Amino acid sequence: MHAKITLLPGDGIGPEVVAEGVKVLRAIGTNFGHAFEFTEAPAGGIAIDQTGNPLPDESLAACHQADAVLLGAVGGPKWSDPKAPVRPEQGLLKLRKELGLFANIRPVKIYPALANASTLKREVVEKVDLVIVRELTGGLYFGQPQGRQNNAQGRAAVDTLYYTEAEIGRLMRVSFELARQRRKKITSVDKANVLASSRLWREVAHEVAAEFPDVEYEDILVDACSMYLIRRPADFDVIATENMFGDILSDEASMLAGSMGMLPSASLGEKKTSSGGAFGLYEPIHGSAPDIAGKGIANPLATILSVAMLLRTSLNLSREADAVEAAVDAVLAAGHRSPDLAGPGQPTLGTQEMGDLVVEALKR
Ligand code: IPM
Ligand code: MG
Repeated sequence: MHAKITLLPGDGIGPEVVAEGVKVLRAIGTNFGHAFEFTEAPAGGIAIDQTGNPLPDESLAACHQADAVLLGAVGGPKWSDPKAPVRPEQGLLKLRKELGLFANIRPVKIYPALANASTLKREVVEKVDLVIVRELTGGLYFGQPQGRQNNAQGRAAVDTLYYTEAEIGRLMRVSFELARQRRKKITSVDKANVLASSRLWREVAHEVAAEFPDVEYEDILVDACSMYLIRRPADFDVIATENMFGDILSDEASMLAGSMGMLPSASLGEKKTSSGGAFGLYEPIHGSAPDIAGKGIANPLATILSVAMLLRTSLNLSREADAVEAAVDAVLAAGHRSPDLAGPGQPTLGTQEMGDLVVEALKR
């Protein structure tokens, strides 16, 4: 097959990990006879430096034209002054909104070889296999009004948590469809005891649940969910929640896996690709990690696993996706570790070496 992939390496370790993702895609292309055409475009802080805009129109257009987008990370201390007029993160939010990517899929799976890498006990985390489906284009991130005001009380600021039933309904449907392919269990997370938006969320979620009688359904309040994620994480299958709750819970859940350096994500909407898959944006869930940028020690596996999601979801290449995941498994099972995964005194490998090992394993 021939597919167009737009690369947005972004900031910090972004370019380093995206390079390894591309390496793996090229190897898949060679091994399975596919032609992947790459277009690279600036987004985030680097785009601010080059153009003053964290998401230049040309970068957005390159994403619109692609079958899938692979993003590294955006942001860093250079651009994080809260008074700055433009911020790298605005580019990412605009990208999600403009591409209609309302469903953010964040799987958390424990690799047997890494069950000791978590700060939680092995027996608590070893059976964890869950997916957070985070609403990505609504809620507090986008609601209006948003911004600063100066009023009689002095400085004030407002953010708005706004959801329509259509936004909730489509997110819940994606979640239920996903649960059907898995262990058929959904946990909808809200704060219905306090927030009006959460009470609407729960109402709509129940209506959608009635369309999926084969899927077990539960509601949990977000504060309780944060506790259960640590106490009994293996009980969760699909967790569906609004934008901000999903942002927070997915970072928490990432710690079950020991390192954020292992976790991929996909952001999907309604648009289809030429191969009939879902157009999507794929990115590791970790950030730009400015403290280790340029050192060649970032773990590229989250990006490589994002590439597996890209192959499966946007290009309908599930055999190829399985091959990438099996290669990552093999590299870890053989004991290779990037610094974020290594135990005390354990030898470590750099970003490119980990990528090379995955490519090697793909040949076997
Ligand atoms: C994430 C990140 C982003 C978010 C930031 C960088 C805007 O934390 O993808 O989880 O809050 O959505
Ligand atoms: Mg986040």
